[in-house]
Amino acid sequence: MEHTLSLEFLRVVEEAALACATSIGHGRRKHSDKLAVEAMRKAMETVRMDGTIVIGEGERDEAPMLYIGEKVGMGADLDGDHPAVDIAVDPLEGTNLCATGASNAIAVLAATEKGGLLHAPDLYMEKLVVGPAAKGKVSLDAPVQETLDIIAKSLDRQVSEITVSVLDRDRHAQLIADIRKAGARIQLIGDGDLSAAISAAVSGTGIHAVMGTGGAPEGVLSAAALKCLNGEILGRLKVDTNTASREKAEAMGVDFNRIYRTDDLCPGKQVVFAACGVTHGNLLQGVRHFGHGSRTSSLILTYGSRQVRFIDTVHIKDGETVTVRF
Ligand code: FBP
Repeated sequence: MEHTLSLEFLRVVEEAALACATSIGHGRRKHSDKLAVEAMRKAMETVRMDGTIVIGEGERDEAPMLYIGEKVGMGADLDGDHPAVDIAVDPLEGTNLCATGASNAIAVLAATEKGGLLHAPDLYMEKLVVGPAAKGKVSLDAPVQETLDIIAKSLDRQVSEITVSVLDRDRHAQLIADIRKAGARIQLIGDGDLSAAISAAVSGTGIHAVMGTGGAPEGVLSAAALKCLNGEILGRLKVDTNTASREKAEAMGVDFNRIYRTDDLCPGKQVVFAACGVTHGNLLQGVRHFGHGSRTSSLILTYGSRQVRFIDTVHIKDGETVTVRF
C-alpha cells in the first residue's frame, strides 16, 4: 500500500493545496476550504484504492464531500489490486491561516490499512507532542515545569532554549503562564496545531513541543505523522458539555479518562502521511506561482518503509516556452 499509494497521495494533497492557494488572503475561509475539499475529492477519484474516509469534513448530513464513511478512490477491483484503506483528511488545515495569508496552512491526509486510525469524534483533545528525544519520557499529567525539564534534558539544552508551540486561545491562559514561569519560550499560533506537531518531531524547525487543547481529528492526523517521524503525541479527549455530542462520542467507544498514545491514535502498520504547504511555513514552503505554473513543497512520510520525503514539484500549466528555475 505504501509503495503504490504514496505518490498518488502526494498528487492528492498537491491538488488540494494548489486549489485553495488561489484564495490566499481573500478573507473567505469557508470558500478556501471548499476549494481544497473539492480538489482533494476529485483527485481521489482516480486513485487505485478502495478507500473509506474515517476522519473528514463531518458527518454525511453536514458535509457534501469527504464525509465520514464516504467511499473514495476507484473502489475494489476483481484482482484485489486496489488496497482497502482508511483515510483521515484535512484538505485545508488552518482555514483562517489561508484566508489571512498567515503561515503554516497545509493540505493533509493520512492513510492506513483498515482499522489503522482511531475514529475520533470532532471534539477537543488535550495534547502533548514531543520529538524522538523525549519520546516515552513525558506524561500528560505532569506539571508543566517537570515536562519542560524532561524535554530540555533530552535535547541537552536549558529550558530557556526550548520553544513550545501553543494555540493562542483564552483556554490556555494558565498553561501559557506556567510555561513562561518555567522559563521556556512560546510560539503562540493563531491556528494549525497539526503543522506545529510535525515541526516538533523534526530537528531544526525551532519547535520542541506542542502543548494545549486543539481538535481531536488533528490529533489523529498528528499521530500518523509522529509515528513515521518517531515522535510522540499524548492526547485526552475533552468531555463535551453538549450531552448529545458526549453520548455520541461514548457510543463510538471514546473513553474520556484515557490518555491515548501515538499507537492508540494510529495503530496502523502501513501508514502514509502526506502534507503540502499552502502558505509559507516552518517546514514546508507555500504554493508559489510563476508565469506558466506553480511550485509546491510537500512531505510524504511512510511508516513501514521508513521514508521521509521532502518533495518539490513544479506544475507546468501550458507548455513549451516554460523555463524551470532551480
Ligand atoms: P481549521 O483548519 O478547521 O480552521 O482548524 C484549525 C485549528 O487551529 C486546528 O489546527 C486546531 O486543532 C483547531 O483549529 C483548534 O480549534 P479552535 O479554533 O476551536 O480552538
